[in-house]
Amino acid sequence: MQNVTTAIIPIAGLGTRFLPATKAIPKEFFPILDKPALQLVIEEAISSEIKRILLVISPLKGDPTLYFNPDSELEKQLTLKNQLHLLSSVHAIRSSAKIETVVQTKPAGLGHAILTAAPLLKKEEPFAVLLPDDLYLADPPCLRQLLDLSAKRKLPAIALLEVPPQEVSKYGIAQVNQLNKRTYRIERLVEKPKISEAPSHFALPGRYVVTHEIFRFLRKVRPGRGGEIQFTDALNEYAKEVPLLGYLIHGRRFDVGDICGYIEANVAYALIRPETGEQLRHNLRALLADE
Ligand code: UTP
Repeated sequence: MQNVTTAIIPIAGLGTRFLPATKAIPKEFFPILDKPALQLVIEEAISSEIKRILLVISPLKGDPTLYFNPDSELEKQLTLKNQLHLLSSVHAIRSSAKIETVVQTKPAGLGHAILTAAPLLKKEEPFAVLLPDDLYLADPPCLRQLLDLSAKRKLPAIALLEVPPQEVSKYGIAQVNQLNKRTYRIERLVEKPKISEAPSHFALPGRYVVTHEIFRFLRKVRPGRGGEIQFTDALNEYAKEVPLLGYLIHGRRFDVGDICGYIEANVAYALIRPETGEQLRHNLRALLADE
């Protein structure tokens, strides 16, 4: 497998779980403390040595790349006020990767969104997919862990997460064969199965490294659950022909596409930040004691 330097980040979904807020602000721009979730995911990609990011965007949600552009008036004001720490936080948004966009004309599913980015990839180029609904506090970064496995075994690899049985119907779920402590061979995948039909408790938490061949399966797959083109369905067909690895990521994952997961992520990030950790710990104890 060639070296992976391109990542697709699809952000063209409707974000219905956060309505009505997502009428005004796309959920990828909801802040985790003071940074949009999208920025954190782009930072993960960059620190995993991704050089080119393809954002799949919606025509209904405005141009997200404006956020990454320099804002000379803001920078002038921060300089005048000598607010240098804020100035450097604004500078840090300028990405060291090239960010390009492609429009998904209708929200026809994650698989459809990924297929929309196909013309922007080079012939035969393998690529990564990161979903900004899933955030990882992990060292090395989650995507780096997958890329290292994929480079070592010369095979595509997807992240796995063990979830409680009652949660399997929220995820793509994998039937697996264990190869070693954290590495599995993916045998079969099913999107949002009922508890009684789930082949395991191994869910797909939004990080994938795949070869270009996946597009052959994405073009063939028919609308599945919810009438959408499901990436999981295409991966299931792909895994029948291409050896596909699953990896239990070291680190803590947050589902920020869900209200509780979003709050939990904010709390976890605030607890590890020196300026907020101690104060928040104190406030949370008081809040829980009053319950
Ligand atoms: P979700 O399944 O979480 O859908 O998409 P959603 O529409 O964003 O959110 P809810 O469930 O309605 O609240 C997973 C990822 O795939 C993108 C989303 O933007 C999100 O990053 N996506 C989904 C697309 O880009 N296009 C689609 O058609 C569907």
